[in-house]
Amino acid sequence: MEVITKIADLQKKIADVRTGGNIIGMVPTMGALHNGHLQLVKRCVAENDCCVVSIFVNPTQFNDKNDLLHYPRTLEADCKLLESVGCTFVFAPEVEEMYPVEDTRVFDLGTVAEVMEGKYRPGHFNGVAQIVSKLFDVVKPDRAYFGEKDFQQIAVIRSMVKLLNSPVEIVACPIVREEDGMALSSRNVRLTPGQRKNAIGISQTLFKSRTFAERHTVIETVEYVISTLNAIPDLEVEYFEIVDGNTLLPVDNWNDSAYIVGCITVYCGEVRLIDNIAYRR
Ligand code: PAF
Repeated sequence: MEVITKIADLQKKIADVRTGGNIIGMVPTMGALHNGHLQLVKRCVAENDCCVVSIFVNPTQFNDKNDLLHYPRTLEADCKLLESVGCTFVFAPEVEEMYPVEDTRVFDLGTVAEVMEGKYRPGHFNGVAQIVSKLFDVVKPDRAYFGEKDFQQIAVIRSMVKLLNSPVEIVACPIVREEDGMALSSRNVRLTPGQRKNAIGISQTLFKSRTFAERHTVIETVEYVISTLNAIPDLEVEYFEIVDGNTLLPVDNWNDSAYIVGCITVYCGEVRLIDNIAYRR
């Protein structure tokens, strides 16, 4: 495994790999890797001849400076983990390498980028599209792997790929959870032990809401999830929406779509956590 920080160096290496007709897979990350990322990397390694993992804390997607400041940075440990799962190249550029000039591009990604996270984190998905489009331009992967914990992000990236006529195949991979059900996230390390205990309520309530939904309406299920979570110390729901899994628009009835997902964002103290659950798939 090689760690590369310059675009030109990575492009040379990738050109060599491609000459042999090899297929290139990519896993874009912001580092602070956990088992959820490693599952993406393992799949990328298994399905492609060459696996490129990018580690870059992208400033343009943080609408909260404090969040950017506190985002964990653990490059050395990340590289050890990546080596252990067979990654070929780690691309870990500095900010100046990816943004030699300010990126002023504004992407029209449609409603999938405007609802939920789009409403609560203005500019976030535009920043994601800026960096992911740059990474795709540099690496030109055949496939790119993303985790379904960031369910809306996958829809936004699919929309970006269409907008740019990019040939990259977007591969969505299931959420990886701790044994107690908590979705793995780089932000979990910021929780105090007490908050971590209370945060289990998020996935537990989502799972229970599946049973609840069998005998209740969509709106009753939304109210059930929000009121249950807000009653748990440390937790405050920012939004919970039950949406069509493709359009991400809210559904009114369970038979409105064959693909229905509940998407949630909860503050646990200062830490913003997201999760989701499929009701119909
Ligand atoms: O999901 C993430 O970690 C980031 O949003 C991504 C896709 C690496 C872009 O910075």
